[in-house]
Amino acid sequence: MSPEERPGSDPQTQSREESFLPPQVVEKLKQTARDAAVNSYSPYSGFPVGAAVLAESGRIYSGTNVENASYGLSICAERTAIFNAVSAGERAIIALAVYTPTDEPSVPCGACLAVISEFAEGEVPILMFTEEKERWLTLDQLLPERFKLKPKEKQ
Ligand code: THU
Repeated sequence: MSPEERPGSDPQTQSREESFLPPQVVEKLKQTARDAAVNSYSPYSGFPVGAAVLAESGRIYSGTNVENASYGLSICAERTAIFNAVSAGERAIIALAVYTPTDEPSVPCGACLAVISEFAEGEVPILMFTEEKERWLTLDQLLPERFKLKPKEKQ
C-alpha cells in the first residue's frame, strides 16, 4: 500500500498524526492491543502491555510482553507485535498502538522505537492508550535522530 493508497490518506490532513487512519482502523488497533495485554506474561514486573501493528498489507498483528526469570531476556509487547508481522512477510509498518492498564499512557522504550524505525513506512503514528486516556505521537517525535545502516545490497 503506497502512502497515497492508504485509506483516508489526504496530504491536507496529514499534519495530525492520527488523521489518515480511519476511525474503524483505529478501533481495531485498540481492540487488538487491549486483547493482547490479556495474554501478557509479566510475573516479575506485574506490568502487562499489549501492542498492535498496522502493516502495509492492511493486516493488524498483535503482541504482548513476555518476561523471563533471567530478566534481560524479556521482550516488550511492541517488538513481539513487529516480529509477528515480519514473520508473516510484512516489511513496512504504517501505525502502532500500545495499551497499558495504567493511569497514564506508556511510551514505547528506546529499543522498541529502534525496531519500529527499522520497518517504518513514512511518518508512523503511535497511539499510547489506557482505559481512560490516549495520546498520539509520531515515531519522528519520539525518536528524531536514529541509527541507520544501508542494507548490503543497496551499498
Ligand atoms: N514493556 C513493554 O512491553 N513495552 C515497552 O515499551 C516498555 C516495557 C514491558 C517490558 C517488561 O515486561 C515490562 O513492560 C516492565 O518493563
